[in-house]
Amino acid sequence: MTASTPTNLLPQLPNPNDLLKLAYQTVQQGKSAFGLAHKQLNTRLLSALKPVERPSQPIPPDLMTRLQALRDELLATDWQDVERGVYGPEVAFDSPWEDFVKFYPLVCLDGWQLWDRAVEKRYQEFSDTIDTTGYPDYYLQNFHHQTDGYLSDWSANLYDVQVELLFNGSADAMRRRVLAPIAQGVREFPEVTGQALRVLDAACGTGRTLRFIRSILPKASLVGVDLSPAYLRKANQNLSQQPGTLPQLIQANAEQLPFVDDHFHVTTSTFLFHELPAAARSAVIRELFRVTQPGGTVVICDSIQTADVPELEPMLLGFPAMFHEPYYRHYLTDDLVTYLEQAGFEAVETSTHFLSKYWVARKPH
Ligand SMILES: C[S@@+](CC[C@H](N)C(=O)[O-])C[C@H]1O[C@@H](n2cnc3c(N)ncnc32)[C@H](O)[C@@H]1O
Repeated sequence: MTASTPTNLLPQLPNPNDLLKLAYQTVQQGKSAFGLAHKQLNTRLLSALKPVERPSQPIPPDLMTRLQALRDELLATDWQDVERGVYGPEVAFDSPWEDFVKFYPLVCLDGWQLWDRAVEKRYQEFSDTIDTTGYPDYYLQNFHHQTDGYLSDWSANLYDVQVELLFNGSADAMRRRVLAPIAQGVREFPEVTGQALRVLDAACGTGRTLRFIRSILPKASLVGVDLSPAYLRKANQNLSQQPGTLPQLIQANAEQLPFVDDHFHVTTSTFLFHELPAAARSAVIRELFRVTQPGGTVVICDSIQTADVPELEPMLLGFPAMFHEPYYRHYLTDDLVTYLEQAGFEAVETSTHFLSKYWVARKPH
């Protein structure tokens, strides 16, 4: 710049934050386009090879527009949480990229097995090498027609990629919506810091939510519980790749948590309740209440329910048949607020983001 150049004639440099936001939006658009294309091609190819009795109807254009708007709102909220400092931009960009590269071809290959199982209505099929003893009956299902249900390393390796494809790349953005209420819940205990702060993720699966929680609470003692040894192994692998304390991973039924009363400052669970029968849903909530400290917070994330977005009802009702979710239909109208209040929680608040719903509640002092 020379001394005589008027500043308003200089080219305006883009603000780095705007560039980052644009990059985030572009990545999300890419994921969405990829997810849609994958599903369309997959369905066309597989239905040509083995036609289904009653093929699912395509989503009507007006509903598609509504879904797109809900997804855009979710992504805008995700980025707002970055701007508010709830988590760093690197967390919003985080995706199971490595698994995608390694396992996407296997997801495509496995697609044929899923399709075949769906068409043949084989819902409880496990490899001979899998020991199914000791699990609750309701758990021994090929949820989402998944090969080996939740009980093999194969299933655990493919899961994150399959879920990202199912939600067109927005599953993690939905999981991240638990982070702001968790951070808020932690603020209720200003005197508790570092490892003294204890957070539980019930049904932690492959550890995506724990990974996000660790990004906002790097020093806290994090504990993940799941019924699947294979998913816990995968969670251990995923979480070991990041620096920082390793969350403790324990194989247990969330209906009988292996912890003393009042142990955790915050308890959470993502995408568990729609895969439980009603009695197990309320049992898990009672357990979450028992292990949460007085003044502590519970944050639940799961699928939206019918009353949340009534125009999506036909799509939600079609979901359990398309993806083998035997308890989903009942879940759609089940009243988790009542379960939470009956367990003893108070100040229950609910909200929705895209296809997910959140219940945040407090255990009274
Ligand atoms: C849909 S996955 C969700 C996993 C993870 N929270 C996520 O966000 O991807 C459901 C998980 O719940 C686990 N699960 C199902 N019933 C359970 C129970 N009664 N106790 C503990 N884990 C359970 C399964 O093994 C599986 O990992």
